[in-house]
Amino acid sequence: MPVVPLTPDLRRRLVTAARKAVRMSYSPYSKFKVGAAILTDTGRIYSGCNVENASYGLCNCAERTAIFTAVAAGERRLRAVAVYTPTPVATMPCGACRQVISEFGPEAVVVSVCDGKERLETVIPALLPAAFGPHDLGVRETNPPQPRRRR
Ligand code: THU
Repeated sequence: MPVVPLTPDLRRRLVTAARKAVRMSYSPYSKFKVGAAILTDTGRIYSGCNVENASYGLCNCAERTAIFTAVAAGERRLRAVAVYTPTPVATMPCGACRQVISEFGPEAVVVSVCDGKERLETVIPALLPAAFGPHDLGVRETNPPQPRRRR
């Protein structure tokens, strides 16, 4: 599968999708809104927001909402992630999200934008060095999505 180049246009679309996704943030407890968008190797963009819960430990980050939505749609490889927070400074994905991004995009680019001038851009190997991954479990090929059954 050819690698989708992260062109300036795709980067812009990804950031726009993250900014849009924040509108659906369900964050009545932290009041910290997050929007995320991911670009997969098929060139598609999926977005998500953080979804909190009265049982705090069940809160789901925006990045994972977007990634799980993509995986459920049959995607397996992640090329880039954009995070948007309506804050003066940009924030990077939390540790749990770095691990989940790494599962599907060990080389993924991570872009973070906010309402201030700050814009961060890095890659997963820098955010999660020496990551634990499928290779540690002896898994070389992760399971592909099953083709849709005809009805
Ligand atoms: N949050 C995210 O959505 N992404 C991150 O990478 C960090 C934190 C959310 C989780 C929770 O709803 C709120 O931000 C405060 O932690």
